[in-house]
Amino acid sequence: MAVEDLEFVKGFCRMCDDGWLQGWHERNGGNLTYLLDDTEVAAAKPEFGEPREWVNMGVTDTTLAGRYFLSTGSGKYMRNVAGDPAHNIGIVEINAEGSAYRIVWGLLEGAKPTSEFPSHYMNHCVRFSADPTNRVIYHSHTPGVIEMSFIVPLEDRAFSRILWQMMTECVVVFPAGVGVVPWMVPGGADIAKATSDLMKKYTAAVWAHHGLFVSGPDFDTAFGLAHTIEKAAELYIAARAANGGSDKFLNVISDQGLKDTCRDFGIQINEDFVD
Ligand code: 13P
Ligand code: ZN
Repeated sequence: MAVEDLEFVKGFCRMCDDGWLQGWHERNGGNLTYLLDDTEVAAAKPEFGEPREWVNMGVTDTTLAGRYFLSTGSGKYMRNVAGDPAHNIGIVEINAEGSAYRIVWGLLEGAKPTSEFPSHYMNHCVRFSADPTNRVIYHSHTPGVIEMSFIVPLEDRAFSRILWQMMTECVVVFPAGVGVVPWMVPGGADIAKATSDLMKKYTAAVWAHHGLFVSGPDFDTAFGLAHTIEKAAELYIAARAANGGSDKFLNVISDQGLKDTCRDFGIQINEDFVD
């Protein structure tokens, strides 16, 4: 079967399209990676070409050494993925040292995996260690989250509390909260390390003035997490604008309300973020 017809590739392409339709992927903005399981590797392997050269990632982690990832291409547009997967996405193999990748399928005509591949790889390793069911890392240029980063202190607690307060089910979807990476140059090892440090604790990290990184065990969960965070961020911006720019709202979900919700849903809230 052609790689494009495999279920995980179809799910990957659909998610790229979903993000594009949300308005989160201007130009080549954003990227997506997916960790293949052994069955998926076996199904795709007959279609693998001659492996290309190993490329150093600038980060090293043996947690997912030898594994395969499906990745969007650097400089490729999310809006083009579904129409032509082989030119816009590709499968890479990680070396035994967990320090380099090589392309084995797709990314035709000299394309490369996303420039954020070091961040994706480190986040996969950290999330896999925290939760072995994790398979997806997704980076999007979500406007509400970016807007929030201009007017909210760039601290995990401040961001998490505001997002939780905006919509009742936020605390259920991300009860640990979100991490916040201050503005950094994208595309390298430094931002990869800063993000993956936060992803030890959180399933999502905000990149100030840039966007959002989320994780999840499948495309639905990862996309749903990004969608929930972004919707809460947009609600905050709209409520604050409607309030003349003030952040002193008439009504807000109380800390006791957040704790009661988690109690009834049987989940653990991050106690450090509630009074
Ligand atoms: P890529 O085109 O290399 O994936 O980069 C897009 C991006 O969002 C960088 O942060
Ligand atoms: Zn980006």
